Amino acid sequence: MGKYITSIVYAVAVILLTACGSPSSGTSGDGKWQSFSGDKRIEQRVDSVLKLMTLEEKIGQMTQFSANWSITGPVMSDDFQPYLEKGLIGSIFNATSVEGIRRMQQIAVEETRLGIPILFGQDVIHGYKTIFPIPLAEACSWDLEMMQRTAEIAAIEAASDGINWTFAPMVDIGRDARWGRVMEGAGEDPYLGSKVAEARVVGFQGGRDVNSLRELTTLLATGKHLAAYGAAESGRDYNPAELSEHTLRNVYLPPYQAAHEAGAATFMASFNEINGVPATADRWLMTEILRNEWGFKGFVVSDYTGVNELVPHGVAKDEKHAAELAVNAGIDMDMTGATFIKHLTESVEEGKVSEKSIDTAVRRILEMKFLLGLFDDPYRYLDEERAKQNTMTPEFMETARKAVASSVVLLKNDNQVLPVTKESGKTVALVGPLMNDSINLNGEWAGLGDRNKSVPILKGLTEKYEGSTVKLIYAEGASITGTTPAKIAEAVAAARRADIVIAAMGEDFNWSGEAAVRTDIRLPEPQRELLKALKETGKPVVLVTLSGRPLDLSWEDETMDAILQAWFPGTQGGHGIADVIAGDYNPSGRLVMSFPRNIGQIPIYYNQKNTGRPVDLNDESVDYKSNYLDTSITPLYPFGYGLSYTTFEISNAQIDKKTLKTEDDKITVTANVRNAGEVDGEIVVQLYTRQLVASVTRPVKELKGFQKVALQAGKSKQVTFELASEDLAFYGIDMQKKTEPGNMKLWVAQHAADNSNEIDFWIE
Ligand code: BGC
Repeated sequence: MGKYITSIVYAVAVILLTACGSPSSGTSGDGKWQSFSGDKRIEQRVDSVLKLMTLEEKIGQMTQFSANWSITGPVMSDDFQPYLEKGLIGSIFNATSVEGIRRMQQIAVEETRLGIPILFGQDVIHGYKTIFPIPLAEACSWDLEMMQRTAEIAAIEAASDGINWTFAPMVDIGRDARWGRVMEGAGEDPYLGSKVAEARVVGFQGGRDVNSLRELTTLLATGKHLAAYGAAESGRDYNPAELSEHTLRNVYLPPYQAAHEAGAATFMASFNEINGVPATADRWLMTEILRNEWGFKGFVVSDYTGVNELVPHGVAKDEKHAAELAVNAGIDMDMTGATFIKHLTESVEEGKVSEKSIDTAVRRILEMKFLLGLFDDPYRYLDEERAKQNTMTPEFMETARKAVASSVVLLKNDNQVLPVTKESGKTVALVGPLMNDSINLNGEWAGLGDRNKSVPILKGLTEKYEGSTVKLIYAEGASITGTTPAKIAEAVAAARRADIVIAAMGEDFNWSGEAAVRTDIRLPEPQRELLKALKETGKPVVLVTLSGRPLDLSWEDETMDAILQAWFPGTQGGHGIADVIAGDYNPSGRLVMSFPRNIGQIPIYYNQKNTGRPVDLNDESVDYKSNYLDTSITPLYPFGYGLSYTTFEISNAQIDKKTLKTEDDKITVTANVRNAGEVDGEIVVQLYTRQLVASVTRPVKELKGFQKVALQAGKSKQVTFELASEDLAFYGIDMQKKTEPGNMKLWVAQHAADNSNEIDFWIE
């Protein structure tokens, strides 16, 4: 150990001395490195460490291992301890707990030649210990401030446990409900997806200022998965994405770019290929677009064994070749695959990879360690007491409960069967496999959330109605995948004794998430059988659906009296859902993915193209139109849709002028919004546009703005949107982003299929 301490003293002295020496340009090495922070002092410190490193130690910094086998796939790396002991690891993930992290950090810092601290990562996706609704659900709140806050809380909890890097937010556009990872994103829309990406990056990183990364309550964020991971053919995970550059740039790339512009410190390459090139080997994507076009200066990590997978993809002949392709494309760190550490030294010696590019990657990684303050105190995150104090606090619970209530989307509510108020005096039969369940509530990617601690809906409702005039009877009726005549009979008997039935049905939590793809997205047959039997009692039936994706609810839409889409709501699920059912919270969620009428419509999304033979929705005859023989082309529930316990009206939409110049111009759009019902509520007012003629075809509608407005019963308010020329820019025939002249329409709407407030205008 003594010799190591001597080395550390030496290394630290050199770092400090060099830092005080003559100012460097910050672009040393191959002249290409530009620091993330732009901070000259940090650049000097990075360079002074780099100078001490052997080639192998440098490549070690570009290597990440998982502390265990993890849920996400096969660990192809060797046991990492020998690497750790030789100072050949840059980052470890899944290490969880102050104690575990301290042990590993100690080896890296006190027992290796240079003592370079380790970066600890984790998938902190929708909470760490306090689990918030799945990201797809949270996005349905359209409440950016709330999403920023839940990311902040997740960061506080995780950073208190010694984590300093999260592999989130996932900002992949999701147009295909079969794909299980839609649960992790913000849905189908590039504009909303970009806003959510920004809110989540700023939340995790504690602001836009790089200095906030030094706080003990923040994490480095990761924009993932670059790119178009959600465009996998047939919704099958890891499958190729075949898509034009127009669609890539106009639809899929904007949220990643927004994550970068919000200051995301890192990016993760996606597993899939686009048009024949796997992202991990795609220099165009990782270097030309991400770095040269957008100006990203942080570092890029591969996905889990993503580098090794270049071999089965069929672009690398072996893992050494894979490592070369990846690093030459612009991947700075290899997640768990150990390809860099095993092969890159040889590749450099053979001239297949330049040492300059290794230096650049290492600088990017070292800079983050400096920004986090790890070189000043590698143990600064590690404090058991702080971890206890910052975990599942009453404030975090309260935020989680509100997040649940505002993420729930009311899809149907015939005869106002909901809410069931405390004063209603009703007897309510509570049934279904997810009514008294806590295990599924957190959904997938639920960090370290304790599934036993999540509040079941039954518990939430029991506490809600305690001491009120409402009586509750519970009978499970079915499990997620099975039932028996006796179970159904018991639930039916409960329904007969009740005035109303509330059935919590849906998916198992691991039917969505990674590698969780479904080709039948209806409720499982036994659950539908139960619903049918309940409906036959003649009692009104409210369906509460829990799922990680939009389901095909066509049959339920015809049969049920009310449908409340509750997703996977997390730790406070039962409480938040009870708040909505009892009417203490008026539902304000709006869908961020279209719900299909059946799986055959998928992919289905509102911002589709018109085609040369569009269907007249008032006359859906099938004669040589872009139509289906056996169903409508419209979704069951459109993007932006959701009901409330009150009704809203939008009227008198106006613009201040009819023409807009292609550059440096703007129009102001106003409209009147009225709460026309009897209870207070919130509406998401949505601004859509359409360009009728352009150099390339444009979507039939595009979201360009939204405002969530709270209005008391009977009250009105004027909403104002400003639309600038550049808000209407897109990549046209010459693949340049600009605003083109053309005829335009806009709508101030309640959802994507609402055409009631339409205005024509022109871009000149
Ligand atoms: C996923 C990533 C995740 C990584 C580490 C992969 O399988 O695709 O999103 O961050 O595992 O858990």
